[in-house]
Amino acid sequence: MAAYKIIDHTYDVVVVGAGGAGLRATMGMGVAGFKTACITKVFPTRSHTVAAQGGIGASLGNMAEDNWRWHMYDTVKGSDWLGDQDAIEYMCREAVPAVYELEHFGVPFSRTKEGKIYQRPFGGHMSNFGEKPVQRACAAADRTGHAILHTLYQQCLKHGCEFFIEYFALDLIMDADGSCRGVMAWNLDDGTIHRFRAHKVVLATGGYGRAYFSCTSAHTCTGDGHGMVSRAGLPLQDMEFVQFHPTGIYGSGCLITEGARGEGGYLTNSAGERFMERYAPTAKDLASRDVVSRAMTMEIREGRGVGKGNDHIFLHLEHLGAETLELRLPGISETSKIFAGVDVTKQPIPVLPTVHYNMGGIPTNLHGEVLRPTAGNPDATVPGLMAIGEAACVSVHGANRLGTNSLLDIVVFGRAAALRAAETMAPGAAHKPLPKDAGDFALARFDRLRNAQGSQHTSEIRLAMQKTMQNDAAVFRTSASLAEGVTKMGQVASTLGQIRIGDRSTVWNSDLAEALELENLMDCALATITSAEARKESRGAHAHEDFPSRDDANWMKHTLAWVENGKARLDYRPVHTYTLTDEVEYIKPQKRVY
Ligand code: FUM
Repeated sequence: MAAYKIIDHTYDVVVVGAGGAGLRATMGMGVAGFKTACITKVFPTRSHTVAAQGGIGASLGNMAEDNWRWHMYDTVKGSDWLGDQDAIEYMCREAVPAVYELEHFGVPFSRTKEGKIYQRPFGGHMSNFGEKPVQRACAAADRTGHAILHTLYQQCLKHGCEFFIEYFALDLIMDADGSCRGVMAWNLDDGTIHRFRAHKVVLATGGYGRAYFSCTSAHTCTGDGHGMVSRAGLPLQDMEFVQFHPTGIYGSGCLITEGARGEGGYLTNSAGERFMERYAPTAKDLASRDVVSRAMTMEIREGRGVGKGNDHIFLHLEHLGAETLELRLPGISETSKIFAGVDVTKQPIPVLPTVHYNMGGIPTNLHGEVLRPTAGNPDATVPGLMAIGEAACVSVHGANRLGTNSLLDIVVFGRAAALRAAETMAPGAAHKPLPKDAGDFALARFDRLRNAQGSQHTSEIRLAMQKTMQNDAAVFRTSASLAEGVTKMGQVASTLGQIRIGDRSTVWNSDLAEALELENLMDCALATITSAEARKESRGAHAHEDFPSRDDANWMKHTLAWVENGKARLDYRPVHTYTLTDEVEYIKPQKRVY
């Protein structure tokens, strides 16, 4: 292996990722007095949170009566009873103070006439335990994530947190006792290698949407934290649950916020019929995402899709009028023009369910501490390692996330991670010496890929992986498609050894970065397809045509997937069937209708 000069850094806390979760944790660590570094692959305000549109869920009750218990009920029901109810209670209770905190930090929320935070309806948000839709999504027009991300970055700077921008985290530094002691990173600007020692490493690296061919996720969403955790011998959880957002623009996959339907938009098929009335008589177009995505797919399958190929659906906003569209939905009006050539004041938008969110991820407790479940203790934790945001699986989203609960998740659990760190350690505590081989694992992998001179381009292998995921782990799945997917993905993964890295004249080149990302994505893809193949029921986003019903007796459990040598090995851990406090009762499983 080439000798790499290593530049050493020591911090109390290192956060990997500068999306909303990473920034909220970074800021909180700074407030608690920790010497904190945030390592990020892209400039913080370009992180994928910037693309979140419709709102952040909190039962403020600004538009009509609301209650965090109703929010909790909707989230449990949305999760199809796979979510852990202690964590869901925590998130929904904390939602209200979390949003007011954001307001005080400076988030420019849209306002009602009285000057309160504006709230719009969203899918699956109901009042009085599922009775009728309620306006719970706190919005900054249709650029809510953008507003939150910019505000949190400013707060981090105010609290003296340090940023390592355009640094790619390679691998965790794990000690022989199983604890995490830091992280290795590669400076994308000058190719230097950095070793970050920390008492706590917080993974906030986002999702892995790019394992699929068509998704609403940024190109940077490559499951980097998932890959690091897998290579450290830790499991991923509930990876079979991949959310398809009903309204990605046909062709490009760009997100059209659910807030568009919240403002009164509706879907039609080729007969001009508002078909959601048949599938979800109460919530209609505002049923939860898995329900709407399945309904759209059924309409297309049964020959009622629109367009030349009868292969998509129309989303109508024309009737809302130019003034409302300009005030409430300016971002998607622009996106529709650019990516679909549509003037939303006059024409419907062509849309299709598109991969949007990963409910699964790195298993954690509600403090953000990463789990290493054992036979005797399914909730055992890994000292020194935390995960938050879409990278993590707390699990508050279970089998299907409700819209706006992702922005909520990132701020609530970003804050929770910082609170836990403040409870369990003191700023400036002395560091043990690092293990002698600290960083060797990361460098061996880096060096192997840097010198890879096989016969296949990263992009070819990535495309094969993405097509397999798109075809075999789709909105609807069958035993045959999933079995085929497992076999194919194993074959695709085996070609990783044949990667060819283009330009070896410098330590830095984009091929190498993409190859590192591809290895991360591949672990995610293997875990997803294998976990999906094993789950013989339908629950939330996992719609299995050969097992169309939910099976609580056998399958109300979290999947754990360890990825080793191009294969995923599975086990299971129980769902938490208890609440956090006595102020609310466990919500028993029910039939899920909207
Ligand atoms: O539709 C949207 O605006 C997306 C929101 C979310 O995924 O929470």
